[in-house]
Amino acid sequence: MKTLSFDPIRADVAITEKEKSAALHANALLHNGQGAGNDFLGWVGLPSALGEEELQAIETEAARLRDLAEVILCIGIGGSYLGARAVYEALSDPFNLLHEHPAKPILLFAGQNLSEDYLARLLAAVENRSIAAIVISKSGTTTEPAIAFRLIRDEIEHRYGRKEAARRIVAVTDRSRGALKTLADREGYRTFVIPDDVGGRYSVLTPVGLLPLAAAGIDIRSLLAGACEMERATADGVPFDENPAARYAAVRNILYQQGFMIEILASYEPQLQYLAEWWKQLFGESEGKQGRGIFPASVTFTADLHSMGQYIQEGERTLFETVVSVAAPEHRVKIGSDPDNLDGLNFLTGKRLSEINHTAELGVSLAHADGGVPNLRIEIPRIDARSLGTLIYFFEKACGISGYLLGVNPFDQPGVEAYKKNMFALLGKPGYEEEAEKLRRKL
Ligand code: PA5
Repeated sequence: MKTLSFDPIRADVAITEKEKSAALHANALLHNGQGAGNDFLGWVGLPSALGEEELQAIETEAARLRDLAEVILCIGIGGSYLGARAVYEALSDPFNLLHEHPAKPILLFAGQNLSEDYLARLLAAVENRSIAAIVISKSGTTTEPAIAFRLIRDEIEHRYGRKEAARRIVAVTDRSRGALKTLADREGYRTFVIPDDVGGRYSVLTPVGLLPLAAAGIDIRSLLAGACEMERATADGVPFDENPAARYAAVRNILYQQGFMIEILASYEPQLQYLAEWWKQLFGESEGKQGRGIFPASVTFTADLHSMGQYIQEGERTLFETVVSVAAPEHRVKIGSDPDNLDGLNFLTGKRLSEINHTAELGVSLAHADGGVPNLRIEIPRIDARSLGTLIYFFEKACGISGYLLGVNPFDQPGVEAYKKNMFALLGKPGYEEEAEKLRRKL
């Protein structure tokens, strides 16, 4: 069985030859570097280019951290956070902490918000656990992770002393620039490099994602093998009908032109919730610019059928749905018989829960399509490292193609600066006095 398949299962899209060649042309631009944002195409060949030496360095460091600490605090935001979290949550047991012998180490995340309560609770929760930290920031100056790191570094230094802290803190950052790099060099932290030509949201297959995932005991070689498989399946020269990323990109752009402005990524596996968060950043930051772009949203079914289901079925007809379907679960749970049958569920006796879940998926897809919500379907055989690697590269490639089809640069994010400018001005950061004065007049 293929690791991933894409099918516009219930969508009224006839792809013309012109649209097929536009998608293939966009794919070619990603390979020949002649499109917008071509300084940031390092991710295109990354899975197959990662050398044994780098992989071993990551694995060795990960093993060292695992030996040192029960809990690894992973600090980062946006592209320096969501990929690792997506894979970690997908592959971890959500009830790990309730087990008599929880799998170790546990990854906990910080630096992705400015919540005082979150950080206070995080630090309190690890009070009696041995800890280490992986701090990830390409620029090395992003406010949220920098603040979290300042607090976590204080905690580690206070507990273990500065010398031991240097063994317990690893930085993933730019090769030569930024405050984090300067600090890491001064303190003697081990460092891993985020390549210059890989932007944050395309960086999960660099040490940004690979180091924390390996530290959590995840098989990063399988993750990369899956990504390599998709790299080959979407290579320049692969015919349109055989290239799932080009097909997905073409279909979503056709739907956008038909007025479907919102794409909902749906999954029936709660473990994939953070994958959807990662996907939202990937597509939202890559495409939402110049007054254009499909708005990426997400739902987890069947839970959200009892909340967002009403809107999807009958609200504004500007939605389309992309379902990430998982063919087989890891476990087997069968419905038993009940002599009283008070809940009326005996008709399900002997069925596996996954069969019911898949039937729900089919019923929902038919109902939503009937209600005017085109349905696309991506299937993976199971939730494992290999399938996730395939899915990650599939979405990255589709996003690059889709951004070019839309006519934007999918590798910049000029819009994210606006809030930072205001926040710094309001907080009184030196150099922002004029901006602060302008804002005060508005308040
Ligand atoms: O995709 C992006 O570029 C952003 O989401 C960044 O990854 C995010 O802002 C974090 O930046 P940095 O790694 O420089 O701290």
